[in-house]
Amino acid sequence: MQEIKEKLLQAIEAAKSAKSADALEKVRIDFLGRKGMITTLAKNVDFSKMSVEEKKSFGSRLNELKNLATESLAAANAAIQESAPRRKANDLDLTAPGKGRRFGALHPITLAQMELEDIFQGMGFSVLYGPEVESEYFCFEALNIPHDHPARDMQDTFWLKNQLILRTHTSANQVRTLKRFGAPIRAIFPGRCFRYESVDPSHENTFYQCEGLVVDKDISVANLIAVMRTILSQVFRRDVKVRLRPGYFPFVEPGFELDLNCLLCGGKGCPTCGDGWIELIPCGLIHPEVLRHGGIDPREYSGFAFGVGLTRLAMMKYGVKDIRYLNCGDLRVNEQFSTLL
Ligand code: PHE
Repeated sequence: MQEIKEKLLQAIEAAKSAKSADALEKVRIDFLGRKGMITTLAKNVDFSKMSVEEKKSFGSRLNELKNLATESLAAANAAIQESAPRRKANDLDLTAPGKGRRFGALHPITLAQMELEDIFQGMGFSVLYGPEVESEYFCFEALNIPHDHPARDMQDTFWLKNQLILRTHTSANQVRTLKRFGAPIRAIFPGRCFRYESVDPSHENTFYQCEGLVVDKDISVANLIAVMRTILSQVFRRDVKVRLRPGYFPFVEPGFELDLNCLLCGGKGCPTCGDGWIELIPCGLIHPEVLRHGGIDPREYSGFAFGVGLTRLAMMKYGVKDIRYLNCGDLRVNEQFSTLL
């Protein structure tokens, strides 16, 4: 026992004089480690000659000494930490490489929408947003599509249990807006629409449109074409050629499909456009019945309406070949657009 006590006291002394954390750790291993001096000495004690009482008191003495030694080691360690040189506040290395920071990015449809809003606002249009959950009245009836009208079949609709629907087009905002603000008015309504579509590279059940309308005195097809050309030239940053074809929508008369002369092939024809033209904006002069639903007298006012396929526009502008990328939720889609901010 005496020998063990001496060794432990030696260990305490050694701990006090250790100058570094490494030296201290060496002291700990030498004295208290699994194969250290204390363990070795204790192993060599001949317990068979001791009484139970003696064994007990030996054990507790040994533990006391070990605790004492462990405490001294901890105290010595704290002292070493305390005296270690500290980094000073102005010890700053300006040449050290910084930590990379990831920037978020806007979705390509959001970018296209923001750009359209900017351009239209520059032309005096208000930007309004209507509800995505809509009544049958605003989505169909007010737009001259009664219950039994075959045009309902053009838009496969999600019906909710409470008789409301997920809007199939942003045209649902036309009569809402006319009722609320009257004429004259210039406004666009960008937003999300839903149709019960089977999904493929060019069809999604969830997509974006940007509807717009102008109602004023003496509005004609010439105004419609002029506004559409101006918008598209600004979106694509060059002069664009457009053409109008007849198109049928019950809420416009006459109704058109406005095609864009393909920007990829210059109108010669390519795999993307086929014959040199890309169908982009359905439009037309607002049907008198729709104006009446909006509380506007068609003998006094006329107007045009259009529905830009916002998702399609984003796909063309940014070269996205499959519509399904846009809703897939994979951040790698967005990340490619971070430099555009
Ligand atoms: N709402 C129509 C659609 O989604 C497009 C449209 C808008 C047509 C405005 C004419 C005028 O198919």
